[in-house]
Amino acid sequence: MPDPTQTGSEELVLAFLAEAGDEVVSGEAISDKLGLTRAAVWKHVEALRQQGYRIDAVATRGYRLVEVPDRLRALELRPLLNTHDFGQVLHCYEELGSTNDRAKELAEEGAEHGEVVVAERQTGGRGRRGREWRSAPRRAVAFSVILRPEALPPVRAPELTLVAALAVCDALRQAGVSAGIKWPNDVLAGGRKVAGILTELAAEPDRVHWVVVGVGVNVNTRLEDFPPELRGEATSVLLERGQPAPRALFLAALLSGLEAWYDQHAEHGFGPIREAWKARSVTLGREVSVATDAGEVVGVAEDLDEQGALLVRTPRGLERIYSGDVVHLRPR
Ligand code: BTN
Repeated sequence: MPDPTQTGSEELVLAFLAEAGDEVVSGEAISDKLGLTRAAVWKHVEALRQQGYRIDAVATRGYRLVEVPDRLRALELRPLLNTHDFGQVLHCYEELGSTNDRAKELAEEGAEHGEVVVAERQTGGRGRRGREWRSAPRRAVAFSVILRPEALPPVRAPELTLVAALAVCDALRQAGVSAGIKWPNDVLAGGRKVAGILTELAAEPDRVHWVVVGVGVNVNTRLEDFPPELRGEATSVLLERGQPAPRALFLAALLSGLEAWYDQHAEHGFGPIREAWKARSVTLGREVSVATDAGEVVGVAEDLDEQGALLVRTPRGLERIYSGDVVHLRPR
């Protein structure tokens, strides 16, 4: 249940119904638990119905939540969250330029660790290396989380991108998509990109002020929603498994996994992250071509080192690539 001192009654009624799952909950139980009159409970149920919630009234026994609208608002998300920090403060927007830009502003204004910015539509979504990130309104999940790592030197901040890639990969697998990670942090399904991650930070040489991890997942994107030039390279949960996924549920599961991997990293360092990343990698053992600032590197991706760099065996020897993009993976 969300914190009752921070939450409106309507949201609490919804949380109560959501927690009961398929069970019928009596109006009396809701009013006792939440300290509301039966008339107030009925009013809140009606208001939720107006917003697209399907709540069945079961004769003399009470209410049952049957369907939740596919929206990413605090109302839908909060009852589903089982995190201690991530998403406990939610900033939900119908439209934004970029969730990363808004999260950076909030971080500069003093936002806390774990605050999350979500948008149903981004008009200026950004990708890595100056690219744009486009996603169809209300079909994707686009969010950014503000992190304030306590004892992470700035040089190790890129590890958090790999942490995020793990969580995204796991959330997709839970949703029935056989996803894998392409170095450093593209998440692919069937060889096509299903999610991307953009990490930005503000730091002094020895201290991180904040890190913003932005994640875009093509959840219910149809083929025709992708620009024609991306149709051969991009995919979505819908396209992979043939049916849409409830986005609020997907985002809540993703935030929970992200927090768990973040905690693991904070407690045990990069070691377990590296192992888990390698287990989900679609890059290692393959012939790759990597675009780096110093030019293209072609060879066999052998390993991920202790700093998250990709080790590529080339005719010149073993090359260590700290930053770049795998632009080509030779089919197995
Ligand atoms: C990439 O693969 O190049 C990274 C894409 C990251 C996109 C997400 S969507 C949410 C967040 N806001 C942004 O503007 N970008 C990230």
